[in-house]
Amino acid sequence: MKILKHLFDRNLAWATAIKEEDPDFFSLLSKQQAPEYLWIGCSDSRVPANQIVNLPPGEIFVHRNIANVVVHTDLNCLSVIQYAVEVLKVKHIIVCSHYGCGGIKAAMENQGHGIIDNWLCHIRDVSRFNAEKLSGLTHDKKFDLLCELNVIEQVKNVCNTTIVQNAWDIEATLSVHGWVYSIQNGILKDLDICITSREQLAEKCKKI
Ligand code: CO
Repeated sequence: MKILKHLFDRNLAWATAIKEEDPDFFSLLSKQQAPEYLWIGCSDSRVPANQIVNLPPGEIFVHRNIANVVVHTDLNCLSVIQYAVEVLKVKHIIVCSHYGCGGIKAAMENQGHGIIDNWLCHIRDVSRFNAEKLSGLTHDKKFDLLCELNVIEQVKNVCNTTIVQNAWDIEATLSVHGWVYSIQNGILKDLDICITSREQLAEKCKKI
C-alpha cells in the first residue's frame, strides 16, 4: 500500500477533473511551457503562487524560499532567474511577500532559531537599512512595514542581477514588480515599485 495514498487519490481526482473539462490539457502542456511570469515568493504553505492569481499550470515559473529573499550569490535563485529570463523569456518578475511572514517575524526576534538565523540575516539587513522608517512603530505596524520593505529590497536585488541588467541592455521587455499578499483576506497589494529599465532603477533607488 502506498504511503500517503490520500495524496495520490487527490491527484487522480484532480487530473481526471481537468481532463473531463479539457481532454487535451495535459498533452498540450507537455509539449511546451511558455509562462509570462516568474514568481519569487515565500515558502509559506498559505501562499501558493498559481492559486493566488488563479492561473492554471504552465502560466507561472516559480521560485520560493523563506521570506522571499533574493541573495546576490544564491546560485539556486540566480539559476531560476536566468532560465526564466533567458530561456523562457518571461516578461514579468514578481517578488511577492505576505503579511504575517514567519521568516520576517523570526528576524525581528532576539532569540536564536538555529541555522535559519544565517538566512534571516538578510532580513535583519533590510531592517538596518530602514532603521529610520521602522523606528517608533508598534510591533504590528513594524512587522507589516518590514514585510513590505523586504519586498522592495528584494526587487532591487533582482534588478541588480547581471541577468536582468543584461536583458535590459538588449532591450528585452522585462518588468520587476513588488507585491504583498494578505493571508487574512486573500487579496494582493501592488507596492507600486514596478521597474522596467536601468534608468528607472537608478531613479527609484534614490526614493526608496
Ligand atoms: Co513567509
